[in-house]
Amino acid sequence: MVSDGQVADFQRDGFLVLEGFARPGACAAARERAEEIVEAFEPSSHRTVFTTNDQVRVSDELFLSSGDRITCFFEEEALAPDGTLTVPKEQSINKIGHALHDLDPVFERFSYTPELAEVAAAIGLPDALALQSMYIFKQPSIGGEVGCHQDATFLWTDPISVVGFWFALEDATLENGCLWAAPGGHRGPLRQLFRRAAGGGTEMETLDETPLPRPPDELQPLPVPAGTMIVLDGLLPHWSDANRSPRSRHAYSLHCISAAAAYPASNWLQRAEDMPLRSLAGHAAARREGSSA
Ligand code: FE2
Repeated sequence: MVSDGQVADFQRDGFLVLEGFARPGACAAARERAEEIVEAFEPSSHRTVFTTNDQVRVSDELFLSSGDRITCFFEEEALAPDGTLTVPKEQSINKIGHALHDLDPVFERFSYTPELAEVAAAIGLPDALALQSMYIFKQPSIGGEVGCHQDATFLWTDPISVVGFWFALEDATLENGCLWAAPGGHRGPLRQLFRRAAGGGTEMETLDETPLPRPPDELQPLPVPAGTMIVLDGLLPHWSDANRSPRSRHAYSLHCISAAAAYPASNWLQRAEDMPLRSLAGHAAARREGSSA
């Protein structure tokens, strides 16, 4: 799936763009399934907005309990001050998270593939465990900015091992909020750590004062066609702008960690004991055997 040269690119840049990784049929199935989940979602029971610019506000029970569930999070601009929707429900959701890969058969199929396990192994994660998944809508006109961050801030292990696999399910462009990254920025330190606070809720601890690259000038845009997978080192600073265009920018992301790394109880994302993390390679192989049996 990846050449030695591409592995070297990943090590140098902290990211790798693989066009045509996901088949059009798989992308369409994922989009359709996300639509069904939103259609079945009952907005009156959930009012959680997701924004990385203000983590404290989203640190409510719904967010903290979403690690082993399928939960819809609203776009900030989709909610009026009184909590009513300013747009139709199907355009109001920022993302669905965070256990799609283990609870939904369509996303399980999309996530646990021998091809992805092969890429993970090639870039240094042969023992990848699938930790967290998100379906990101980046809705037309109101899709929010995702502030410049390092994924290891939110998914920390000792040693740091998180890798993000980000799939464009629609064309991602400069207009609709494609990813931007800082080439080589993964060689810098981890700046912040987001974790559960002792007294409940969450807190952000500063580990290193080195500023993150300032968007957009200090980052490089990564516009890609649908079907592209972008691999992101967990320390790589990345950002995506708000979507003010009339076109959505749907994406799916799967974050994996090394089975050999320690996963602290202070991480915001915790799973029920009866839902242990699954091996990317192991479950992909089991699925293949099951489907051919
Ligand atoms: Fe990220």
